[in-house]
Amino acid sequence: MKRKLDFSKLGFGTGMIHAGQEPDPSYGALATPIYQTSTFCFDTAEEGGEIFSGERAGYAYTRGGNPTTTALEQKLSILEGGEAAIATASGMGAVGGALLAYAKAGDHILRGRCIYSCTEHVFRENLSKFNIEVTSADFSDLEAVAGGIKENTKLLYFESMSNPMMELSDIREISRIAHDRGIKVVVDNTFTPPPEIRPLSLGADLVVHSTTKYINGHGDAIGGAIIGAKEELDPIRSGITTKLLGTTPSPFNSYLVLRGMQTMELRMQRHCENGFAIASFLEGNPHVKRVYYPGLSSSPQHALAERMMKGNYGGILAFELKDGIRGMKAFDACKKLLNSFTIPSIAVSLGDPGTLVEHAASMTHGAVPAEEREREGITDALIRVSAGLEDKEDLLADFRAAFSVLD
Ligand SMILES: Cc1ncc(COP(=O)(O)O)c(C=O)c1O
Repeated sequence: MKRKLDFSKLGFGTGMIHAGQEPDPSYGALATPIYQTSTFCFDTAEEGGEIFSGERAGYAYTRGGNPTTTALEQKLSILEGGEAAIATASGMGAVGGALLAYAKAGDHILRGRCIYSCTEHVFRENLSKFNIEVTSADFSDLEAVAGGIKENTKLLYFESMSNPMMELSDIREISRIAHDRGIKVVVDNTFTPPPEIRPLSLGADLVVHSTTKYINGHGDAIGGAIIGAKEELDPIRSGITTKLLGTTPSPFNSYLVLRGMQTMELRMQRHCENGFAIASFLEGNPHVKRVYYPGLSSSPQHALAERMMKGNYGGILAFELKDGIRGMKAFDACKKLLNSFTIPSIAVSLGDPGTLVEHAASMTHGAVPAEEREREGITDALIRVSAGLEDKEDLLADFRAAFSVLD
């Protein structure tokens, strides 16, 4: 058997390979087995009672816990530098669990202005049914955050980098503002997982992820995670998300995400490299009005990006086409461009091995009310790109060729 490793003293790549993955006690399997079982049997009735009461460690029923999922949770906690993690069946399961943990009837949540459309829907439609008040603020503006806090504010919720406008929030300063007032901070770090941004180290109380994206990285499993201090997560695990609302992942999906995470360090380097190369190409293209990517030195948020991301600027970006290209409406020009790519796929999601391109106003953000979309800058001319792992030169050649149809 391997010796226990101290991941606080080891690098990110080593942690992503070894964390959670002890050789299996049954036969010494080095790759974590998929415990594809709904229930676990006990040697004796006494043992069953003790496991159920928590007196003895063990598994009873996969909705409450499963060894493959435990291995994934250990790796997820090392990923973000948290004490513990809860794996969920989807990113939305993680978002819901974190929100229900902190907010009750009569409370107020201040949320980021520009967030993923399903999360926006939960805030707008679902939480109001529980008499939880939600307002939004521009989280790239610290004064707007402080000004949006009310007497009954219990939670600040925002995305480390907003979807789809790529706006960064200063997590350290926002956490300071919140904690001075006894308010909790939850950050959705799906767009900028480590090594890009580490919200817990900057003061956030909980991090949520859609592991569907970069963390799994292979586009073949839906999953989510909530990561933070054990005392914050225990009530979510036993009383809210996992056990009672049943957001448990399948053991097979836990295995897929666990496997995907082992190559995360290498993958993230390439995503960042390709994202930067595409953003730089777009910045110089005559059909492009504006590129949203804080890694560019021309970005108004570049100084914050340098401070928080230290050169790992990510693989996701957005850009707006200029008005009136060849007399076309913005939406038509976007469709013409999207239909001209050959390597990138037209698809939502992000963090896949292949490059993905999408039209936010009619796809991911189509359900957001039009006035809100307009206020956030999600125009008909906006295209979002998730740079994949392909050869950079192939991607750039494909972008060049696709853009030539607009000349
Ligand atoms: C920022 C962000 N958070 C959460 C989610 C939800 O994740 P999932 O689709 O895994 O439920 C998404 C999905 O696109 C997302 O982009």
